[in-house]
Amino acid sequence: MHRIWPLPAEPVDDPALADLYAHPEHGHSEHDEPDAAPFVRVNFVSSADGAVSVDGLSEGLGTPGDKRVFGLLRELAQVVLVGAGTARAEGYRGARRPVRGTDTPPPIAVVTGSADLDPGLGLFTDTRTPTIVLTTAGAPQERRDRLTAAGADVAVLDDLGPAALLAELRRRGLRRVLCEGGPSLHGALIAAGAVDELCLTVSPLLAGGAAGRIAVGPGGSAAQSMTLASALHDEGALLLRYRR
Ligand SMILES: NC(=O)c1ccc[n+]([C@@H]2O[C@H](COP(=O)([O-])OP(=O)(O)OC[C@H]3O[C@@H](n4cnc5c(N)ncnc54)[C@H](OP(=O)(O)O)[C@@H]3O)[C@@H](O)[C@H]2O)c1
Repeated sequence: MHRIWPLPAEPVDDPALADLYAHPEHGHSEHDEPDAAPFVRVNFVSSADGAVSVDGLSEGLGTPGDKRVFGLLRELAQVVLVGAGTARAEGYRGARRPVRGTDTPPPIAVVTGSADLDPGLGLFTDTRTPTIVLTTAGAPQERRDRLTAAGADVAVLDDLGPAALLAELRRRGLRRVLCEGGPSLHGALIAAGAVDELCLTVSPLLAGGAAGRIAVGPGGSAAQSMTLASALHDEGALLLRYRR
């Protein structure tokens, strides 16, 4: 793996990679203050032609470098935020590796309006840290009760807009937020101006087909410009990081 931006280009080993992806606020900025707003980092992999999945899954897009960064980003996060669509499609289970400097993995926080999640999912049965379910009172009580019985930490919010989601994570002291998608949740975060950083792997692959892209939402553009913070090259894949 080579860093190609910022210059000069140079090989990247594990410590250099961790330095590159360290939260800039680490230890000294407002994001580490007890009342600080969460820092929202989003991570996606896409094909060179912009597909977010192959046959409905992101797996076919992965590269060794993408997997390496995916794991590192989890180790640097305090919580992994994910939409229910992704958790269901990708068969999510609890994170494995502890957050750096701690001995527990980050919780997965899954956003669901329906609370229609199978309590037998690895999210609940195969996790060292209880999964947080972010939902509303509009979800049937019996579904919420079933998830609580399965060990989930069910939070009933007024709504599931980004402001409410991030306020709940902040209330729990979870400020380094890693959002792993999917496109609907990402679209909502963009529309709310809540994305601080996008980590995007572009895989050397043309997917074609009917796959969507990494963000979707109801009409109207929410365009906002970003700055390229770093770019890595690894076996044909580009690992890009854009900052607000
Ligand atoms: N390439 C990648 O890096 C990558 C990453 C992630 C996902 N994916 C792919 O994306 C696909 C899933 O896409 P998706 O759009 O269905 O997934 P999603 O964004 O993970 O999930 C959408 C679901 O989240 C819940 N939700 C609740 N509040 C929401 C809000 N404010 N905004 C958005 N969602 C909210 C709803 O669940 P309820 O229906 O329960 O109410 C909604 O149906 C899969 O094919 C997956 O493989 C790819």
